[in-house]
Amino acid sequence: MPAKVVVGVQWGDEGKGKIIDILASRAQVVVRSQGGNNAGHTVESNGETYKLQLIPSGVLYPNTLCLLGSGVVIDPVHILKEIDGLESRGISCDHLRIDPRAHLIMPWHLALDGLSEKMRGDSKIGTTKKGIGPCYMDKAERSGLRIYDLVHPEVFAQKARITGEIKNRLLTDFYKEQPLDLDAIIEQYIACGKRLKNYVADVSVLAYNAIREGKEVLFEGAQGTLLDIDVGTYPYVTSSHPISGGVCVGSGIGPTLIDEVIGAAKAYTTRVGEGPFPTELFDEMGDKIRNLGHEFGTVTGRPRRCGWFDSVIMRHSVRVNGLTAIALNKVDTLSNLGTLKVCVAYKKADGTIIRDFPPTIDELAECKPVYEEIEGFEGDLSKCKSYDELPAACKHYVEKLEHICECPIKMVGVGPARDQNLER
Ligand code: GDP
Ligand code: IMO
Ligand code: MG
Repeated sequence: MPAKVVVGVQWGDEGKGKIIDILASRAQVVVRSQGGNNAGHTVESNGETYKLQLIPSGVLYPNTLCLLGSGVVIDPVHILKEIDGLESRGISCDHLRIDPRAHLIMPWHLALDGLSEKMRGDSKIGTTKKGIGPCYMDKAERSGLRIYDLVHPEVFAQKARITGEIKNRLLTDFYKEQPLDLDAIIEQYIACGKRLKNYVADVSVLAYNAIREGKEVLFEGAQGTLLDIDVGTYPYVTSSHPISGGVCVGSGIGPTLIDEVIGAAKAYTTRVGEGPFPTELFDEMGDKIRNLGHEFGTVTGRPRRCGWFDSVIMRHSVRVNGLTAIALNKVDTLSNLGTLKVCVAYKKADGTIIRDFPPTIDELAECKPVYEEIEGFEGDLSKCKSYDELPAACKHYVEKLEHICECPIKMVGVGPARDQNLER
């Protein structure tokens, strides 16, 4: 049984949660490897909608082991709220495990996320303000606090006080803000640790053993390829590695153990937050796609910026993730919009046509999309039960995308529910 990775291949919100939930019906283990509660993964099951942020999207299946690897950053207050929210709806989280190496998002990370954004002014990143960047900064600086510390109260109290005092200096002396109440923070976090203790386990060992035993293991990506800190649109990115390589680092398994890498994509493009977006639509068509696709952020409620499908981005994602297949979601949203456009290349300011995504946003900023028009399609696709039932023009759109992305499209999404995913 294979180990499969599902990654976002645009700027996030491609429907990764839905794909994981569908594949999880056949899997025994689902692993998250990076990111934190900046993610918002929507799963629809039996007419109920679940918005998951940290808990893997396999949680709706009671026998699926759900793992949070060492690369995930965890806000203990948030995760307990998420667990309680799910349990109050009858979803058990007893099958959740958290790696002791995972770093903790502390209240100073939340404060500093907001303050550094404010200080950046017009060049702000547009973060989710969940403390993600500052937490990964401390991890890289080797001063972070981890889940292991949290479940050892004396160790935690000592480390949190030393770090907290330094962060308070930063808050008061540099940002001219009030200091945080360290006693209250330590008390609140230790109480969280008492509850989270039951979930702690070595995720690298659990994932490895499951793969060796022939179980089906899914790795659930968060964010998207263009939000990757190395291969994304830096600095308008998140602080981790949403690409397939990040799965190995953040869950502690080697690349030879992975069999398939599925890229979740939308049939158009969206992004939240700031930064360049070549195919962005500022006209009525952009508004139509936003409204028809309900393109408003799961975590922050912000309207998502919308634009045409961009195959330059997609080929970049095929390459950097080593995709073996694409799951193309939200094809239904494009129905009844008339002629559609697809970006096939970029034109630089000097007129040169390029097909490879430029490495820097300075180069990207001078690129204009080169479009091909494709016949649109009509009708309510959400009722289609097989790929063959789709209108011919819709199948042509999918086949055209597959051709220019240079990767097979194996799943086509025509709605948010489990049974609205058409396999090819
Ligand atoms: P994720 O972060 O990648 O898991 O994606 P989000 O959950 O943030 O955003 C995807 C949104 O699209 C959610 O509201 C899903 O319920 C919805 N969705 C997923 N696939 C489809 C699809 O094929 N058609 C439609 N209409 N909605 C979809
Ligand atoms: P899922 O998993 C879409 C974006 C933020 C911002 C940038 C940095 O639901 O696809 P951060 O808070 O991470 O420091 O913000 O990254 N961002 C996402 N956009 N979907 C996500 O997750 C995102 N997670 C972060 O909007 O532009
Ligand atoms: Mg999302």
